[in-house]
Amino acid sequence: MSTMKGEESGARPTPRSGRRWKRWLAWGAVGSVVLFGLIQLIPFGHRNNPPVAKAAVWPNTRAETLAANGCNDCHSNLTKRWWATEIAPASWLAQSDVNGGRNALNFSEWDKPQADLDNVIEAVQSGSMPPLQYKLFHGNARLGDAERTQLADGLRQLYATDPPAGTKQGGG
Ligand code: HEC
Repeated sequence: MSTMKGEESGARPTPRSGRRWKRWLAWGAVGSVVLFGLIQLIPFGHRNNPPVAKAAVWPNTRAETLAANGCNDCHSNLTKRWWATEIAPASWLAQSDVNGGRNALNFSEWDKPQADLDNVIEAVQSGSMPPLQYKLFHGNARLGDAERTQLADGLRQLYATDPPAGTKQGGG
């Protein structure tokens, strides 16, 4: 008898600590849901697109399409937001890319100084643009070698026929 009782009391702590663990887990889940709801109220990442001040006039529609698919979400005022980037914290990361991108080069503000052509060509040909996190979710933004060359050629034509109001050196 006493041996069995000993065994029973020895076995008890497991379900009890299991219950405590479940309670922590439940509170953790509630806390996460509340926190997730609260961060949605932080407005960064829920901005509307500013109006197009002066659109770059692309002489080459093929390059224009490549830029529309691969660059305009961050380098124009025509940003299309994917549903997942409407939700914090993804929306904050996306908005910070859009802000940084527009700041370096904005095809919708061609009346303002823009990145130097050499920097733009370099970004395209090195494959540093579009950034990796964007390419992961936007299949048609992944440029092959031929498309990179087409886009680079189109950008040279654009800067020759409709240059921006000035150029910024260094960029980024
Ligand atoms: C997901 C958003 C995003 C996309 C899409 C994107 N960029 Fe960028 N781009 C940025 C950000 C952010 C910066 C500024 C920070 C940096 O340099 O990494 C930038 C910077 C640049 C710069 C300035 C770099 C320098 O050295 O002057 C150029 C040029 C550029 N991008 C070209 C492009 C081109 C061309 C495409 C399309 C093929 C493109 N980007 C697509 C976000 C983006």
